[in-house]
Parts: sequence; C-alpha cells; structure tokens
Amino acid sequence: MLTHDKIERSVPLLIILVILTISVGGLVEIVPLFFQKSTTTPTNELVKPYDALRLAGRDIYIREGCYNCHSQMIRPFRAETERYGHYSVAGEFVYDHPFQWGSKRTGPDLARVGGRYSDQWHRVHLLNPRDVVQESNMPAYSWLDRPLKEPNIGAKMAALRKVGVPYTDQEIAEAPKAVQGKTELDAMVAYLQGLGLALKQTR
Ligand code: HEC
Repeated sequence: MLTHDKIERSVPLLIILVILTISVGGLVEIVPLFFQKSTTTPTNELVKPYDALRLAGRDIYIREGCYNCHSQMIRPFRAETERYGHYSVAGEFVYDHPFQWGSKRTGPDLARVGGRYSDQWHRVHLLNPRDVVQESNMPAYSWLDRPLKEPNIGAKMAALRKVGVPYTDQEIAEAPKAVQGKTELDAMVAYLQGLGLALKQTR
C-alpha cells in the first residue's frame, strides 16, 4: 500500500503514529478503571478506613521498609489461594494511600495475615523473629517497643479525607486520644491484625 510505504519511510511520522496507537490502547485499558464500581468502591462492609492506631502502624510499616520483603497482593493462582486465602481484589484497597502491594517476597505475603496469629505472637515475632520461627531471616525490630509519637495523626487523617477516605470530624478529633499512651509495637500489631479480613472467610 502506498500510504503504508510512506509511513515506513518517514521515521518521525512512524514514531508519532506508534505513540498515538499505544496511547489509545493504554487509555482504553486504564480510563474505565476510574469508573468501575469494583475498583472504586469497597468490596464489602468489612472494608473500612484505618482507625487512628492502625493508620499509625501503617506508617511504621512504611518507615521500616517491611514492603521490601513482604507483598500484600495474593494473586489468583491455586498455589497462592491455598496458602494465603482468597486472592486480593481491588475493592479491598480503596482506602490505601499509597498501596502496600509490594513486589518482593522474601517473607510471606501479608495481605490476609490479620487474625492468623495472636497479638502476643506478633509482639514476640517483631521484637525477635527467631524466638518463634527458628530459621527466620527477618530482621529483629527490637526498637518498636517504645512510645508512639504521632502528634499529627489528626492532620494525616484530614489529608486522607481529601483524597476520598470518609473520616468523620469526630474520628479526626478523637485521633490523638486513640494513639495516646500506645507503643509503636501496639500500632504495628493493630495494623497487621486488621489486614485482609474483608474476604477472610471465603477461599
Ligand atoms: C529481610 C526481609 C524481611 C523484612 C525487611 C521483614 N520481614 Fe517479615 N518475614 C520475613 C521472612 C523471611 C518471614 C518468614 C519467617 C518468619 O515468620 O519469621 C517473615 C514473616 C513475617 C510475618 C509472619 C507471616 C506469616 O504469615 O507467617 C509477619 C507478620 C511479618 N513478617 C511482618 C513484618 C513486618 C511488620 C516487617 C517490618 C517491620 C517485616 N516483616 C520485615 C522477612 C522479612
């Protein structure tokens, strides 16, 4: 074909048309995700915004880089669902800013670790993993047993509200009280124990 011949002989034209084609393909895939109910609304009533203590725990999870070794994304493969439970779905993460999906699994996926162990197990494990899992190569986070300092927790929640997390004024006002007198370990355990409960029962 003559036109095709022309396109192939003109590098700038070819580049422009390739970019155009790829962007249309990309947009067709990405744009609907912003409007699909399954990606923009909570999966069920068990998906709730993080309360103040869990939110603080999440920040520590990020600070300590736990995501470097742990994913929070169960893929829909049998080997994964047999081990971790129901595969992750988009609606479980609507209040996560940013997501902690991760991409590296030195340790197990944590997407449904909530309720798998007791609070006490987590405390011992975080302070020194070898005390409960002899062969573990997870680092000890012995410093987490110190007072939680979260002077800006209310402001953090207000900021999250701006991006769509439905915190009430009352929740924001009471946030400082909710984290008062807690340790970083308390916050981390609260965070971990709440992970993935929304689809826990179904496999
Ligand atoms: C260097 C990699 C590494 C880092 C960093 C790391 N972990 Fe781990 N984690 C592991 C490994 C390996 C295991 C499996 C052995 C064990 O249970 O200790 C594990 C296990 C766990 C488990 C038990 C999961 C299960 O289903 O049995 C939890 C909970 C956990 N880690 C939380 C954390 C948290 C919270 C942090 C950050 C404070 C963290 N990990 C940082 C490697 C890591």
